[in-house]
Amino acid sequence: MNILLLGSGGREHAIGWKVSQSPKVDNLFIAPGNAGTSDIGKNVPLSPNDFPGIRQFVLDNKIVMVIVGPEDPLVNGIHDFFLEDKQLKNVPVIGPVKQAAMLEGSKEFGKQFMSRHGIPTAAYKTFTKDNLDEGIAFINRSHPPYVLKADGLAAGKGVVICPTADEARLELHSMLMESKFGAASARVVIEEFLKGIELSVFVLSDGKTYKLLPEAKDYKKIGEGDTGHNTGGMGSVSPVSFANKQFMNKVENKIIIPTIEGLKSEKIDYRGFIFFGLINVEGDPYVIEYNCRMGDPEAESVIPRIQNDLVDLFLAVSSQQLEKEVILTDPRFTGTVMLVSKGYPDQYEKGKVITKQENIKDSILFHAGTKTDTASGNTVTNGGRVIAVTSFGNSMKEALNASYKNATKIEFEGKQYRKDIGFDL
Ligand code: AMP
Ligand code: GLY
Repeated sequence: MNILLLGSGGREHAIGWKVSQSPKVDNLFIAPGNAGTSDIGKNVPLSPNDFPGIRQFVLDNKIVMVIVGPEDPLVNGIHDFFLEDKQLKNVPVIGPVKQAAMLEGSKEFGKQFMSRHGIPTAAYKTFTKDNLDEGIAFINRSHPPYVLKADGLAAGKGVVICPTADEARLELHSMLMESKFGAASARVVIEEFLKGIELSVFVLSDGKTYKLLPEAKDYKKIGEGDTGHNTGGMGSVSPVSFANKQFMNKVENKIIIPTIEGLKSEKIDYRGFIFFGLINVEGDPYVIEYNCRMGDPEAESVIPRIQNDLVDLFLAVSSQQLEKEVILTDPRFTGTVMLVSKGYPDQYEKGKVITKQENIKDSILFHAGTKTDTASGNTVTNGGRVIAVTSFGNSMKEALNASYKNATKIEFEGKQYRKDIGFDL
């Protein structure tokens, strides 16, 4: 089989690494990929949002499956684009159609979906510039902290938590009246603050049934002890200690099953990963957000623990035969540490040479923001998040120790990483 994987992050390197191990694969192409993905397949200089370019590439290279890593091509309707094209409609796309991707593409759509199906989530209200006054009044009668969310995709930056009403009023004004997040903040969801510990739960759905994948915990803040600015994610671990049988039963019965059944009852055909961003509030799970893709850096901890042939699972997704599959999970722990550029998540420099990654044996390196410099042949930094170091262990600590040992061996100017991944477990 010839497979095309869209995206360029650590998540895509992890998915591609696993896909490339399938005996079914003849050629794996990654568009656009990074320096690491060129070791597991062939990088193609195409944007995941260049649908006509992708169409031509699929036809020219006899691609028989397209796996979509990031959310934006899904929210932009890449799966629908394939379904509507005579020559592409039989090429399976792993990732939901636009309407289903709106679970992530619009916070309000996601919240309304949850409320229609009785899925536990924070109470909320939505505001636009036409009812800014009501938004201000809502803040005035709510309690701190205030959670404000841009409705649309905002590259992971659209959620602002304000400790005081003054800040919340200013933030609401800036989102609605000054387009702080562009069109994404033309609508703003204000919701109740939930206090608890977060975890990320993943399923594969074929539109009929679902299979639960290993769960993970992501560390979003730049600073140790979960302080400072939000990032794309600074590390992850899997499994998560508090996600025991009792808790996961609640997650399945109160959240996953109502979501899958809700999608079916609304005739939304969901084929791909569903990412449930959850929070454990005194033993009860609530949904913070849906995502229509795998998490990053959760994928770097979750994918290595899946022992199935991932291509078989994807084929089952596209033929709606997932029911027959059994997910086999490596019982060991994984721990992922993300090496990031100096200054991230604010301003950072690119183009720093990365050295000494060849002699690392007991960790898997998933590249994120890296590229091969064509003039020198060097691997250089090309983003805020640079390389994810993932290791297995018989405990979370053992896995993380191995990742930390190897994190010190990889060098680039300005390298930073959190030393406390897993601290709260
Ligand atoms: P999101 O972009 O939706 O993942 O939100 C970013 C982060 O904001 C989440 O990972 C949570 O830490 C936090 N957050 C979002 N919604 C809430 C909420 N209702 N209560 C508490 N924290 C929240
Ligand atoms: N790590 C969180 C996300 O992928 O959205």
